[in-house]
Amino acid sequence: MNAILEGLLPIVKSAGSKMKQFFDSADKDVQFKGEIDLVTQYDVALERELTAAFNKVFPDFRVIGEESSPFDIGMQSGKVIYLDPIDGTTSFVHRFPFTCISAGVYIDEQPHCGVVYNPILNELFCAAKGEGAYMNGERIHVSNTDKAVRSLFATGFPYDKELRRKTVHKFAHMLDITQGMRRAGSAALDLCYVARGTFDVYYESTLRPWDMAAGIVIVEEAGGKVTDLAGKPFRLGLDYLLATNGKVHEEFLRELNSVK
Ligand code: IPD
Ligand code: CA
Ligand code: CA
Repeated sequence: MNAILEGLLPIVKSAGSKMKQFFDSADKDVQFKGEIDLVTQYDVALERELTAAFNKVFPDFRVIGEESSPFDIGMQSGKVIYLDPIDGTTSFVHRFPFTCISAGVYIDEQPHCGVVYNPILNELFCAAKGEGAYMNGERIHVSNTDKAVRSLFATGFPYDKELRRKTVHKFAHMLDITQGMRRAGSAALDLCYVARGTFDVYYESTLRPWDMAAGIVIVEEAGGKVTDLAGKPFRLGLDYLLATNGKVHEEFLRELNSVK
């Protein structure tokens, strides 16, 4: 197994068992980063614990965690671990069990490996470049769906309400042309569900590097495709992310671009 992935896994698993205890606790202290953008004491505590553990095991890596980095940080050079201590905080607060820890490793701006762990449903996803993608130790692959009308489309919405209003007509069109649409509330898990073939396509705008760094490696290693809306290979920091099984990619690029 990839040596960095091997170092990441026990750290994320151990933080995951704490996250599972916090998930059920009634004492969540909810603070507001924006009108509907939440953070709890557990996001902060998990980020602190994970960062300290990563720094110990990987002293030459820089950890970019959501709760301690500038919101508009882009892709960084060198050896980096992008960390979302709780992806899906709104779900976590409401005890909707689609929430996870996400840690993605990039070296010289290239995806290297990643772990996404949902301790509530006990789903652990991981992948390393060139070594395939796995869920709970079993190899996973994207779906074979080849038409939009047979596709389950997943998405998420920005916290900025003005931006939401601007993009909502794209989703009306997606409802029209697909088999169905899901908004489960965690970008990292949405990407993993494309990787395991549950979702055929996932599209979102204005994600931050910690939301997607790990999921991108996992989708690509499961045989999927990740691009921007122009169809160019995706780079952290870009605004529009389209991840599919590859077979429906061109069709969704066309359809998403057809609605301005
Ligand atoms: C959010 C989730 C959500 C996505 C938002 C993200 P957070 O992350 O991934 O699914 O739609 O764009 O910001 O705030 O729960 O870590
Ligand atoms: Ca997130
Ligand atoms: Ca988060």
